Amino acid sequence: MAAVRRFRSGIWLFLLPVVAQLLHVAVSLEPISMGIAIAAASAITGYVSFPEFYCGRLVECCQVDRPLNSTALQIDLKEKLFGQHLAHEVIYRALTGFMSNENPKKPLALSLHGWTGTGKNFVSKIIAENLYPLGMKSKFVHLFVSTVHFPHNNLIPLYKDQLQSWIRGNTSRCARSIFIFDEMDKMHPGLIDAIKPFLDYYENIDGVSYRKAIFIFLSNAGGDLINRLMLDFWNGGRRREDLELKDVENVLSVGLFNNNNSGFWHSALIEKNLIDYFVPFLPLEFSHVKKCVLAELRHRGLEEDEELASRVAKEMTYSPKDNKLFSDKGCKTVSAKLSLHL
Ligand SMILES: *[C@@H]1O[C@H](CO)[C@@H](O)[C@H](O)[C@H]1NC(C)=O
Ligand SMILES: *[C@@H]1O[C@H](CO)[C@@H](O)[C@H](O)[C@H]1NC(C)=O
Ligand SMILES: *[C@@H]1O[C@H](CO)[C@@H](O)[C@H](O)[C@H]1NC(C)=O
Repeated sequence: MAAVRRFRSGIWLFLLPVVAQLLHVAVSLEPISMGIAIAAASAITGYVSFPEFYCGRLVECCQVDRPLNSTALQIDLKEKLFGQHLAHEVIYRALTGFMSNENPKKPLALSLHGWTGTGKNFVSKIIAENLYPLGMKSKFVHLFVSTVHFPHNNLIPLYKDQLQSWIRGNTSRCARSIFIFDEMDKMHPGLIDAIKPFLDYYENIDGVSYRKAIFIFLSNAGGDLINRLMLDFWNGGRRREDLELKDVENVLSVGLFNNNNSGFWHSALIEKNLIDYFVPFLPLEFSHVKKCVLAELRHRGLEEDEELASRVAKEMTYSPKDNKLFSDKGCKTVSAKLSLHL
């Protein structure tokens, strides 16, 4: 028995270059040829599990049903995101719930709100990385930045067509696609309604199901509503951590719907309740900025230096004028400021 196994693994090693060659050719071929090559390779090697060997090593695969590692997500959120107890809780709950549901009734739609530098982009990056090891570089993660992709108001009809065709094309290739829309507040109101059909409760549209896709909207809109709420809370002598989601969520969705600079102005997405979660990002305080500096030091492989962290955090500007509670740019310029000290 052992001899046989040894013999077979010997063959396997011997054939490795052949298999690699087959796969290499297959990558540049049509899906059908690829299927044949895959079958051939599997037949030759006999007992290697194909997706395990092929995906990740040779090419990135869309693995619709790969389970989410919720422990890893929890650790990422805990160690990399500072001062955002609400966002942490909502993102964790939303993502684990959605990913463990084999038959979601609609795609997951998250709308992230808050001042600049509070961690919205960061959280989308964490989500992308927890689904695809290549993160934002994955070919299944699509980032649209309003000012880059949709800059001209007179081209809205064209953008609408383009956007629909991209989302249709990409989702039909991979049902577990992630679409991130940055700078929603700078997006022409109306453009976002072009994607309403994809977010709705349809089984499929022209044969494509969108139910396993994830849509993430980022915007500064609502940031001042959140900040005002936070300030009232603070003035009332209450702890930041006691702020609850229900305190914020309603204020936010009503505020955005009626704000013509939110990208969601009178949007059907809000009107029809197609956004599953409004995720508030709270303004960051001195202690959080300090944590960002320490994390940045760790990230660069340097020693964590409390005193240096305080110095860098002190260089940021804080508002409002009288109590200087919240960092104006969150943690946004921390990295650059730190570089000046090193
Ligand atoms: C999930 O992630 C944790 C922490 O990164 C890791 O220890 C564990 O092995 C992972 N589990 C699986 C099934 O990959
Ligand atoms: C997928 O989306 C990208 C934009 O992120 C676009 O350039 C590309 O054409 C889309 N692919 C398909 C097949 O529609
Ligand atoms: C909406 O935009 C107009 C300018 O286009 C502005 O005058 C008005 O105050 C805005 N209303 C709200 C509620 O933001």
